Amino acid sequence: MSDEQYRKIPYATEAIHASIDRGNRYRSLTPPIVQSATFLFDDTAELFALKTGQLERPEYGRYGNPTVSALARQLCALEGPGADDALLFSCGMAAITTTLLALLSAGDHLVYTQQSYRRTLQFCEEILPRFGVQCSEVPAVDASRIIEAIRPGTRVVLLEMPTNPYLYLCDVARVVEAARAVDAQVIIDATFATPYNLRPLELGVDLVIHSATKYLGGHNDVLAGAVIGAWHLVLPIRQLQGITGAILSPASAYLISRGLKTFPLRMQRHNENALRVSRFLESHPKVVRVYYPGLESHPDHELARRLLRGSGGVVSFEVAGDFAAAGRFIDKVRLPLVAPSFGGTESLIEQPALMSYFDSGERARFGISDNLIRMSVGLEDADDIIADLRQALDSYS
Ligand SMILES: Cc1ncc(COP(=O)(O)O)c(C=O)c1O
Repeated sequence: MSDEQYRKIPYATEAIHASIDRGNRYRSLTPPIVQSATFLFDDTAELFALKTGQLERPEYGRYGNPTVSALARQLCALEGPGADDALLFSCGMAAITTTLLALLSAGDHLVYTQQSYRRTLQFCEEILPRFGVQCSEVPAVDASRIIEAIRPGTRVVLLEMPTNPYLYLCDVARVVEAARAVDAQVIIDATFATPYNLRPLELGVDLVIHSATKYLGGHNDVLAGAVIGAWHLVLPIRQLQGITGAILSPASAYLISRGLKTFPLRMQRHNENALRVSRFLESHPKVVRVYYPGLESHPDHELARRLLRGSGGVVSFEVAGDFAAAGRFIDKVRLPLVAPSFGGTESLIEQPALMSYFDSGERARFGISDNLIRMSVGLEDADDIIADLRQALDSYS
């Protein structure tokens, strides 16, 4: 391969080596799955050393586990400078809700955007106000509008980027600057971007959250969540997790750790496949509109060029026709499977108006069109995916 052809795959080395513990007592290359609820102490002196902070070691499964710690090291390595601690959860929602509960108290102000994952939105709209948190919803992922909502007393600004399903972006660095001025923390749910495509900590973001169920796990076989950032910012969340208990199991941690070894390669392929699929869709006469930040036609294409390495594996598009026609198109598709979620090896396809926004009032509120399709482009051969989409588009009516 010539130097010109060779494109450095970022973090490939870190993704492979960060989980290795050369000193582990079994001398195993891979992290052992330490399936134990509790951990032994030689004597009271060892326990005393732990309690007085002279020793760091596992104590009880809810407070930490060696397999989960190996995964945390990998995530810190992938997230880059500023990521000195990673806390793992049973799923992405556990990461989001525990983080917000740890950082917000009655009277505090939270800013979030309407283009957040639906369950996140529900938590901000329905649950946090019950505990006296003042919540401001910004209707667009637009830095100026988010900044307008920040005020003295704002403690947290919660962003999600790219958004679901239209994949909008905002100028994060501007939001960070405004948040700093009032001493608020900026948290970003970067599930759609992953550390491969976006490194929020380098933009000044305080904490990054991922649903590791998606690209980080990458194989549609495990649920997990993560919060990553500076040690002192993760600490209060860790302490609350020790109380509320939504921890990741060692077996799930092992699956994600294993999957992360091929993460940069997978992301490279997701990015390439989705760009090819989105270009094909844009060229097809029965596709009304394609939403993919890697396309020049996307409203946030310039931001994507500036902020993202690649645009990820999710492509949204509108097909000709109404709600029922979109369903008929999906039923013609053979290769992508009909299921919620994204970021795995298998291509998945869904109609958001049916899968997530069946209530027509909700559809209107979130601007979800009846003929919208969301596709998670997997790691299959892009030619095969495109051939299948072509036959489905050509044949549905
Ligand atoms: C952007 C985003 N954040 C968080 C979540 C929640 O993650 P989990 O399903 O792992 O709880 C999802 C789930 O789809 C998501 O899309």
